[in-house]
Amino acid sequence: MSELASLNKYLIRYKWLILLGIVCVVLSNLFAIYIPVFVRLGIDDALWISQNISLIENNLLYEAALQTVLGFGLSILAAALLKGVFLFLMRQTLIVTSRNIEYDQKNEIFQKYERLGEEFYRNHYTGDLMSRISEDVSNVRMYIGPSIMYFANILFSFVMIVTQMLMINASLTAWVLLPLPFLSYSIYVVSKKINVGNKRIQEQLSQITTKAQETFAGIRIIKSFGAERHFNHDFFESGKVFQSKNLALAKINAIFFPLMTLLMGLSTILVLYIGGWEVKAGRFTPGNVAEFIIYLNMLIWPVASLGWTTALVQKASASQKRINEFLDEAEQPDNGLSPFPDFHQITLKLPRYQYLDKDFPALQEVEVQFKKGQFIGVVGKTGSGKSTLIQLLTRQLEMQGGTFEVDDKSISEYALSAFRSKIAYVQQDTFLFSDTLRENILFGSEMDSSEEEVQKAIRFASLDNDIAQFPKGLDTIIGERGVSLSGGQKQRMSLARALMRDADIYIFDDCLSAVDAETESVIIERLKTALKGKTIIMSSHRIAPVLKADEIWVLEEGRIAAKGNHEMLVETNEYYSWLFENQSLES
Ligand SMILES: Nc1ncnc2c1ncn2[C@@H]1O[C@H](COP(=O)(O)OP(=O)(O)OP(=O)(O)O)[C@@H](O)[C@H]1O
Ligand SMILES: [Mg+2]
Repeated sequence: MSELASLNKYLIRYKWLILLGIVCVVLSNLFAIYIPVFVRLGIDDALWISQNISLIENNLLYEAALQTVLGFGLSILAAALLKGVFLFLMRQTLIVTSRNIEYDQKNEIFQKYERLGEEFYRNHYTGDLMSRISEDVSNVRMYIGPSIMYFANILFSFVMIVTQMLMINASLTAWVLLPLPFLSYSIYVVSKKINVGNKRIQEQLSQITTKAQETFAGIRIIKSFGAERHFNHDFFESGKVFQSKNLALAKINAIFFPLMTLLMGLSTILVLYIGGWEVKAGRFTPGNVAEFIIYLNMLIWPVASLGWTTALVQKASASQKRINEFLDEAEQPDNGLSPFPDFHQITLKLPRYQYLDKDFPALQEVEVQFKKGQFIGVVGKTGSGKSTLIQLLTRQLEMQGGTFEVDDKSISEYALSAFRSKIAYVQQDTFLFSDTLRENILFGSEMDSSEEEVQKAIRFASLDNDIAQFPKGLDTIIGERGVSLSGGQKQRMSLARALMRDADIYIFDDCLSAVDAETESVIIERLKTALKGKTIIMSSHRIAPVLKADEIWVLEEGRIAAKGNHEMLVETNEYYSWLFENQSLES
């Protein structure tokens, strides 16, 4: 239950609606209680008429008795109607509240997801993230809605019904309630089993969601390797485990209801048996017996829903625990307040950077510096640490020691969002949204950018010819992650997207690798014109794109092997000139 305490803030937010709902619960129970009373009065009255049939000659008395029976009938109808109205209002308030809270909670989790950093996403699966924001939130909603509603209902109806029964006949009530402790105990035992079963099911479901998500994301690879059967089999197996876990739980549930009905049936027999003797002894009317049986039936649902509610609460608690795990994750620190300045120079000194799951550092003794308006190239073989360095520069990765300074002030003094707003970044593995080309390009900018600006970005990224060939031009939808584009087109799309941004620093991480050499040199030339006066950082495993950089940082196995411009490096650095020679030979 303690996990569910984190929901209290929502309950407090909607306290008046919940309170109103509880008032409706009380009122609907109040009217329900009257129904058996009217039934008893009606039956006893009708019996009196049948026993005093001789009075038929006395028409007036007979009419009066009939009128009262009819009156009781109408009263039953009225009470049932009123009970129904308040039942409706109870659902309208409490269930609506649970939907509101579900909405709030999903937003809370979604916003948290967005604040979590690179580290978190590296260690968690998308399927798991999805299942926590969907299935787990639904489970929690069942606690807030139905559980609270039924629990309030159980509480009030139980107290009211039992009070009523005690007033009529205390000893019979005691007899009738005798099976209830057994019922409660069996509910307790069963609920515990349900809890364990539910936890297993939830975990299995998360696993299945992850599997399905990965399969669909990688469907092209799966098909090209002809691995459908393997994945089918895998999914089938997970599904089978899920099914058997669900069936195990269903078995427990299946025993539950018959058991309850049996115990309630026993109580009914007791009422008939003892009630019969009481009637014979004159301490009880036949109407009382009927009344008692109705009360007993009214108790069945609350007692039944107690078991169900307990299971719901336990399920919700397990789900909330999973939600809390993510809500409690440390966010990427962002304590800076100042807006990002018009900087002169940025310096990064990094003794080492090591990924958590690796036993050697990805970067070591890196010290780099760039000035506003410079064109910086980062070259190095694959795995040399270029992307890591760039992700540190864009603050996607947090520094592990060392300093990151903007004109002698630590970067942490500036708000992360302010810093990011000054950066346009093209990542190595492109990501496009399943939308139109236009929307994907506009994504980088203020949405009110003009058509002219879009066309300019397209030209600078050398996309104009490609787009002219699409049937609907810029309004062509590109499919999930841009499936309908070639690798090079995708890269140039993300380039255009970055160019739409009015940033100070443009960072390109190996983003021309799928573009042919000729197009590449055209793009570089255009970029230099388009981004005149802006800072450019471009990484590449080839030297060609950064030949004309003001400064080139040469990375070798996580260390800066050399710094300088191309001419200088060719002269002085053995590794660089070796790289250059090799690549020139290749081309
Ligand atoms: N998310 C990660 N988790 C763990 N290790 C990583 C991660 N990303 C990179 N590495 C490791 O860090 C080292 C440097 O990788 P990085 O991606 O920075 O190289 P790169 O120079 O960009 O290579 P490429 O030219 O292939 O893009 C490699 O040994 C790599 O295995
Ligand atoms: Mg890389």
